[in-house]
Amino acid sequence: MASVGSAVGLGNIWRFPTVVSGSGGGAFVLVYLGAIGLLGLPLLMAELALGRRGRGSVLTCFRTLAPGTAWWGIGLISVTAVTIILSFYAVIAGWVSIYLGAGLAGRFRGLDVATLQALFFDIAGHPWLPLAAQAAFLALTAGIVALGVRAGIERWSRVLMPGIVVILLVLLGRVVLLPGAPAGLGWFLRPRPELITPAVALRAVGQVFFSFSLGMGAMVTYGSYLDARQPITSSAVYIALADLAVALLGGLVVIPALFAFGIEPTMGPGLIFVALPAVLGAMPLGMLWSALFFLMLYAAALTSSVAMLETIVAHAGRRRRWATGLAASGVFLLGIPSALAAGPLSAFRPLGHDFLGLADFIASNVLLPLGGLGTAVFVGWVWGAERARAELERLSPRSRAGGAWALAMRYLVPALLAYVFVTGLTG
Ligand code: PFF
Repeated sequence: MASVGSAVGLGNIWRFPTVVSGSGGGAFVLVYLGAIGLLGLPLLMAELALGRRGRGSVLTCFRTLAPGTAWWGIGLISVTAVTIILSFYAVIAGWVSIYLGAGLAGRFRGLDVATLQALFFDIAGHPWLPLAAQAAFLALTAGIVALGVRAGIERWSRVLMPGIVVILLVLLGRVVLLPGAPAGLGWFLRPRPELITPAVALRAVGQVFFSFSLGMGAMVTYGSYLDARQPITSSAVYIALADLAVALLGGLVVIPALFAFGIEPTMGPGLIFVALPAVLGAMPLGMLWSALFFLMLYAAALTSSVAMLETIVAHAGRRRRWATGLAASGVFLLGIPSALAAGPLSAFRPLGHDFLGLADFIASNVLLPLGGLGTAVFVGWVWGAERARAELERLSPRSRAGGAWALAMRYLVPALLAYVFVTGLTG
C-alpha cells in the first residue's frame, strides 16, 4: 500500500493529463500503455527485487551486489533525479494548497475560463506565495520522514486511494455531461499511431518512470522494506494497475473539460488548475467538492514526497533527523527557481522551457530513463537475470512468466530504453 501511495500522486492527476494534452492525445496514450507493459512493469519488478536483495538505500544496494565496482554511479543518477523532482514537485503541491484555500473561499464560483486563467497566473506568478507554499509542503514532508515512514503512511494510503478514486468518479460524472465532452473523450481514447514520434515516445517513457517512481531509487528503497514472504510479481502488477487506473481517471476528467471549456491544451503546468476549477465551479456543492479534491490531491502528493525524501535520506543511518532537515532545506533552495518560474523569473527560458519545465525535462526525460537503463543492465547482466529471478520467485515455483521476465531484463528492456532515449533526444 505504501508503494501505491508513492506511485499515485501529482504524476497521475497533474502531469499525466498535461503531457497527454501536449502530446497528441490518444497517440500518446497508446505509447504510454505499451511502455507500461514492456518497460514499466518489468522494471518495477526489478527494482523491488533489487531493493529486497540489496537491503539498503539505492546507493548501498549496488555496492552490496557488485562490491568494488562503479555501478553505484547508477544510484547516484537516481538520487540526483529524485532530488530534482522533489524540488519542483513541492512547488506544484504548493499550488495545490493555495487552490485548496481559494476553493474554500469560494473563488471559483461563476468564473469563466479567461478569469480562471488569470487567477492561475496571479497565484503561480505571485512574488512570494508559491515559495511559502513550497516551504510549507517540504516542512510537512520532512516532519513525516523524520518521525519514520511506515507507521502512518501505510494506514493513510489505505483511506486515501479509494477517496481519490471516488472523487474523480464524481467529477467524471459531471464532466461527461458537458457539451463538447464527447469530442474530448474521443481525442483522449482514439489511438492514432500515425502521430507517434520519437519525442512523443520518450515523453511517454518519462511519464511511466515518473508515475511508477522508477529510475530514481524509490522503489528500490521500498523494496528493501519488503519481507521475504511478500510476492513481488503480484505486488508489482497491483501497483501498476492502481497507478494506471488513477492516471486514466485523471485524463478522463481533465481532457474532456479542455474541450468543453475551450482551454488551450498546450497551456503547460497550469492546465489542471484551470480545467478542474472550471468543472468544480459548474457543480452543485462545488465548494465542498473543490475542498475535498484539493485536500486529497495534497495528501496524495505528500505520500509521494515522503517516498522521495525517504529515498534521499535512506542511507543516513543514525543521523536521520539531521539528514532529513538538511536534505529538505537543500531541496527547498534547489526549487526556488521553479517556484519563481511563472513569476519574477518568467523571462528566463533556457532551451525553450521555463525553469520548472527545464527541471522536469532534465529529470524525467533524461535522468530517469538513464537511471532505468543502468538499473536494467545491472539487474540483467551484472547481478544477473537468473539470480534476480530467484529473488522474484523466492517462495513460488519457477514459472514461464519468470523466464520471460529474465529474458526481457537482459535484452528487450535495455535495447528498447536505449533506442527510445537516443531517438527521442536527438529526433
Ligand atoms: N510517482 C509519483 C507521482 O506520480 O506523483 C512521483 C514520485 C513519487 C516520484 C515517489 C518519486 C518517488 F520516489
